[in-house]
Amino acid sequence: MLKIITVDGPSGVGKGTLCQRLCDITGFHFLDSGAIYRSLAYGVMAQQLDADNELALNDIIALAASLPVNFRAGQIFYEQQDITLAIRNEDVAAIASKVAAIPAVRTALLQRQKAFAQAPGLVADGRDMGTVVFPQADLKLFLTASAKIRAERRVNQLKNQGVIANIDQIISDIEARDERDRNRSVAPLLPAEDAIVIDTSLLTIEQVVDNAVKIMQERA
Ligand code: C5P
Repeated sequence: MLKIITVDGPSGVGKGTLCQRLCDITGFHFLDSGAIYRSLAYGVMAQQLDADNELALNDIIALAASLPVNFRAGQIFYEQQDITLAIRNEDVAAIASKVAAIPAVRTALLQRQKAFAQAPGLVADGRDMGTVVFPQADLKLFLTASAKIRAERRVNQLKNQGVIANIDQIISDIEARDERDRNRSVAPLLPAEDAIVIDTSLLTIEQVVDNAVKIMQERA
């Protein structure tokens, strides 16, 4: 039977790594819903649409409805272009969180996300997976951690990629994005009523995975 596990929470909280590990353990499919919003942001930037301008609204909604994005073997293609790495920067993330606040954009992308639910199961990573996209999920996890801890993890991640980052800038980017994600009128970043909240601030990724697997086994 098709099973769905949702993992929601703010950026940099460890959702991606946890989801990947849960997929390895269960053999389930993976939905990176943030990558869909980031792909839309990529298209908005490529078409030079202004996400802050009301006049661009209809074009952004139309683009969301026919977003030319494909996920293939862990890579993301926009039309024929591989954008897997190009969408992983803060500029794209900031535009993604702006277009994600437009109600009609979220509606336009809903079906596309639901279509990822295929046998044997799905691990869905996002902000509203447990509340809006898969309210019927079998297991809902919601990860949290302080903005400072998340920024430190991001700085370390960038350091490993040879990029020197300014921690204060990263904290303020993260806080601005959280603020937008939490306070928007549709699908705000919130744990579902039946979600299990895990604070990852003081946990290693191994401990987070162990916790999640234990919860999963208890529910099986
Ligand atoms: O998870 P990620 O950082 O890739 O998401 C980028 C942005 O896309 C988020 O800051 C958020 O505004 C938006 N998003 C969303 N709903 C989701 C996933 C991402 O609004 N389910």
